Amino acid sequence: MLTDPHAVYAHMREQAAACPMRSLDGSLMWVVGRHEGVRSVLADPRFANDPASAGAPLMQVDAMRNLGLAEELIPYLADTLLDNDGAVHSRLRRLVAPAFSARRLLALRPRIERLTDDLLDEMAAHAEDGVVDFLGRFAYPLPITVICELVGVPMSDRPAWLRWTHALSFEQEKLGETLGPLVDHTRALVESRRARPADDLISELIRAQDGDRLTDRELVTMVLSLVIAGHDTTANFLANSVWALLTHPEQLALLRADPELTPQAVHELLRWCGPVLVSRLRYVTEDADVGWASFQAGDAVMAALSGANHDPREFPDPERLDITRRHRTRGEAHVSFGAGPHYCLGAGLARHQSEIALRRLLARWPSLSMAVSPEELNWQPVSGMRKLERLPLRLD
Ligand code: HEM
Repeated sequence: MLTDPHAVYAHMREQAAACPMRSLDGSLMWVVGRHEGVRSVLADPRFANDPASAGAPLMQVDAMRNLGLAEELIPYLADTLLDNDGAVHSRLRRLVAPAFSARRLLALRPRIERLTDDLLDEMAAHAEDGVVDFLGRFAYPLPITVICELVGVPMSDRPAWLRWTHALSFEQEKLGETLGPLVDHTRALVESRRARPADDLISELIRAQDGDRLTDRELVTMVLSLVIAGHDTTANFLANSVWALLTHPEQLALLRADPELTPQAVHELLRWCGPVLVSRLRYVTEDADVGWASFQAGDAVMAALSGANHDPREFPDPERLDITRRHRTRGEAHVSFGAGPHYCLGAGLARHQSEIALRRLLARWPSLSMAVSPEELNWQPVSGMRKLERLPLRLD
């Protein structure tokens, strides 16, 4: 499963338009893995993100309680943008969307380029006998630096955020120990910006509080979830992309020969090895016959993004990585960033960073290669994500 999760979702996709599956806690869910089905589930308001609106059990909240998480801490993880639907979701999303607009991102590009060059210098300085861990030395530092600057988190806090994110992914049993200090830290950060506003997203969100558009708790949740969502996914996408290119030398050669292909190569890499394999669970709010399947109110449904991205009904010869494959750059056909109202807020930011990073990395080291064989790489045991543990590269 971990070395080839696509095979699992491909198998389910070919079995049925919606496959029943038991989750680890024994509850039943439907896995939807065909392109048409994934898009329609993610866009249909009858498939809600908040289980309460479907009268479904609050599995995520119960799991947190079972892990001993204090009641007042639960909303910081379980009441984010991604957990809300309808009017609450629109209100929250409208407040943060301007910070990720195409115009703002374009203005950010020169800064991302400078950071990329500095971090590539730092990575090179850490190489031993020409070998360095790309994931730890570049793929994580770039997106955490970019999102911290955008949101307004001081650079000196970066190592703590990286530790918190790691603990939230891998040390679930210590959830309470991790989340308490993380929430306190974020609250203190918000208070310091309230006293001394700056040119950052936290200060913008504080101004939005004047119109009663955001509670204190929502503000802290937003900051916390943006910093986490804003770096972990991009870091793993960068590493997965470099791994994919280095293990497909003919594709790498094409990209080296024509760097103008980079934006389209990034879309193909998102399709082929995007790090987020499945959506959050959706809950059916009323009995729904969607043409290709029927669901009952209260059903839990998971959209297998990777199944859809490798669906031969949508992508001819889907297992082939082909950076010349035509992808629309807007309204793309792959679903690596999801679809519908919860379409990834940071999709543009992730694409800008990936394009810049890949271009500059390849231009700087013409004979870049993997320092270990692909079989020696460890894929992390995180369900629903495709994450490497390390990616050792030989620079020269
Ligand atoms: C939502 C993937 C980078 C912030 C999502 C979803 C996916 C996704 C699949 C939808 C999940 C669902 O509907 O269940 C990715 C990938 C990334 C990436 C593959 C990098 C390659 C980022 C970045 C940010 C970000 C850089 C920075 C802000 C968010 C937020 C949501 C989201 C806030 C929730 C949106 C909403 O509920 O309206 N992302 N993401 N992501 N992403 Fe990303």
